Formats: sequence, C-alpha cells, structure tokens
Amino acid sequence: MKTAIVFGVTGQDGSYLTDLLISKNYKVVGVARRSSVDTTERIGEHQKNENFVLVEGDITDGFCVSDIINKYEPDEVYNLAAQSHVGTSFKQPTLTWDVTAGGCLNILEAIRVSPRCNEIRFYQASSSEMFGKNFTVTSGGKYQDENTAFMPQSPYAIAKLAAHHLVRNYRDSYGIHASSGILFNHESERRGENFVTRKITKWIGKFVASGKDENFPKLRLGNLQARRDWGHAKDYVRGMWLMLQQEEPDDYVIATGETHSVEEFLECSFGYAGIDNWDEYVYIDPEFFRPAEVDYLLGNPTKAREELGWEPQIKFRRLAELMTEADIDEELRRSSLQEVSDGCLEAR
Ligand code: NAP
Ligand code: GDD
Repeated sequence: MKTAIVFGVTGQDGSYLTDLLISKNYKVVGVARRSSVDTTERIGEHQKNENFVLVEGDITDGFCVSDIINKYEPDEVYNLAAQSHVGTSFKQPTLTWDVTAGGCLNILEAIRVSPRCNEIRFYQASSSEMFGKNFTVTSGGKYQDENTAFMPQSPYAIAKLAAHHLVRNYRDSYGIHASSGILFNHESERRGENFVTRKITKWIGKFVASGKDENFPKLRLGNLQARRDWGHAKDYVRGMWLMLQQEEPDDYVIATGETHSVEEFLECSFGYAGIDNWDEYVYIDPEFFRPAEVDYLLGNPTKAREELGWEPQIKFRRLAELMTEADIDEELRRSSLQEVSDGCLEAR
C-alpha cells in the first residue's frame, strides 16, 4: 500500500484528492492546521476510514513539516496548502508569502534532508495566476501554456511563482522527483464561498430559498469582465496524481481550453435557476475590485493530454449547473429544517 501526505487536506482540492487516493487504496495522511473551529467538513466521510490519518501541522513550521515527513515515510507528498485567495493576498501579503512560498520551501527542504529523499515524489500546486497579464499569441489564438512567460499581478501569484521556481531548482539541483501542476481555475460544489463562482451560486441558493423575495439583499461583485478557464476540481486532482505516476518529474498545464467571463457565469447560473435578468440582482461594489487584475486566462492543456492522457470531463456550462443545483438544494434543505425548528419552538 502506498502512503501519500496531503498538505491542505481540508481545502477543496485536498478533499477531492483524498477521495481519489483512498479509492486507489492509498494510506492518506492529511495535514490540517490547528483551528478554533472544526475545518474538516469536506473530509468528514474519511475520518472513520482506517486508511486515513488526520495530523495537526502548519507548513510555515519547518520542524513540524520535517517531523511529519520522517514519521510517515511517504511515497508521495502533495502540497495543496496555501493562502489561496488573490484578493486577500493584497491585504495580507506577508502571511501569503510565508505560507505560499515559505511553506513550499519547508517541504522541499524536509524532503532534501530525508534519508528517503530519492523515494519521495512531490507535487506542488502552481497556478495560472503566475501568467498574470501575459499570454502567447499564435494564429490559433491567445492562450497560456508551459512556454508562456510569467508576469504575476498579485502577492499571491508572486509567492506561487517563487515556489514554482524552487520546485524546478530542487529538481535540477538534487534530483528530487518534484512536479508542478500549473492549474487554471477549478471550482466545485465544495469551492470556498469567497471565490466568485461559489459566491454567485451560494447567493442564488439563498435567494431561491427565500422564495425569490424582492427585498433580498443584492449580490455584491467586482469586475465582471475578467475571463477565466474554469474546470471542475474533481478532474484536476486526477491530473495531480497522474503527474506523480510519470517516470520523470515535469511541469504541466491543466485547463479546459475554454475561456469565459464572470458575466457569462452569471448568465449560466442565474439562467439555470430560472432567473433571466441577473443584472437586476447584482450591485457592482468597488470593494471587490483588485489593485491589479488578471484579465484573461485560457490554458492550453495539450502537453497534459498527450503525455498524461488527461482530459477534463466537466466543462463550463455543466460546472455552473452542478454548483447552482447543489447550492439551491442545500439552501432549500436548510430553510425547511429552519421551518421545522421554528415550528417546534412555537409548539412548546
Ligand atoms: P483552498 O480551498 O483555499 O485550500 C487551501 C488549504 O490550505 C486549506 O486546507 C487550508 O487550511 C490550508 N492552509 C492554509 N494555510 C495553511 C498553513 N499555514 N498550514 C497548513 N495548511 C494551510 O484552496 P484549493 O482551491 O483547494 O487549492 C489548493 C491549492 O491549489 C492551493 O495551493 C491553491 O493556491 C492552488 N490552486 C488552486 C486553484 C483553484 O482554482 N482552486 C488553481 C491553481 C492553484 P484551512 O482549511 O485551515 O484554511
Ligand atoms: N473572489 C471574487 N469576489 N472575485 C470577483 C468578485 C468577487 O466578488 N467579483 C469579480 N471577481 C473577479 C475577480 O476580480 C477575478 O478576476 C475573477 O472574478 C475570479 O476571482 P476568484 O474566483 O477569486 O479567482 P482568482 O482567479 O482570483 O483565483 C483563483 O484561481 C487561481 C488560478 O487561476 C484561486 O483559486 C487561486 O488560488 C488560483 O491560483
């Protein structure tokens, strides 16, 4: 049985990767930082599984990272831990740097000094945000691939780029089997609620559960013109795993090859909920504009398709529908539970 350590196990990707690895009969050691509240909702179902171990750890603490790697003797290590919100990175740049760049260095160093250095395979969660304002132009169009130069636009993207270069440097310098997945935006029913797609579908769920109350507060958003290449997280964690099954480590773009604006996501998700005039419910709030923006992301995943055999199964429209449906169901369930609970209180 193989052992994998997952840093960032409580996040969106950590939970889907755990599902995948458990289904492939791995022992999974999930690392979660200490919190005053329970953060394990997304991995709840695995907690009773004897092949899953949850350990406390923070990637900014190098000794702690080293202890975990030495204790559990992993075959594979996945670093999904980060301060992953781009907007927040402008407000908390130092923390973002320490976690997102420093955390990756702590893991690489722990692997380098480990007696099992040559047996461990490492995955780093790099990001399409590293391309920032840049793209490649050919007769086939505008896109980003593994050869596009990086021009990061936020403290988050700069920290991710530092980690990306560290991975390449440790691979070249010490022969570590370390790969980076340059993943474009991927969302899901488990997406954090302050990323734009989930913020939209969550609002729709609450609005529908309110009976489409005309007095329901508007949805406050920033830049609706930004374009992203949006896929489903379930597909993307398969790409991570495939990278670590290759004989040689390398970097790969994982993306759907389509780009859509935030406005198109609004159209799709509101339309799915039977609301045609989404613009009447949205308020443009300067609070949600960023000091610097990434306007256009469209990934070219040819290398991943040809070398890993990776293909996305869920694309833009289906993604928006799945997320909207899940949030409507969840909010209707909550409001009916609330009604039952109110009824019980009244009956007392
Ligand atoms: P996410 O939901 O925000 O998860 C981030 C995880 O990192 C959470 O488990 C979080 O723990 C953990 N974490 C934060 N600070 C930590 C620390 N100091 N020590 C240990 N763990 C810490 O992000 P995601 O969407 O799953 O993304 C996974 C990774 O891929 C991230 O590195 C992200 O930057 C990168 N990425 C994401 C996308 C995307 O579109 N989703 C695209 C490209 C790259 P808590 O639960 O305690 O907060
Ligand atoms: N979050 C958010 N909230 N974004 C908004 C809002 C809003 O109210 N209104 C408009 N946007 C715009 C942002 O300005 C951005 O252009 C776009 O919607 C997407 O924002 P996010 O969903 O926050 O994602 P992101 O693209 O900035 O970053 C995500 O993808 C990266 C990969 O490209 C994150 O998951 C990063 O961790 C990841 O690396």
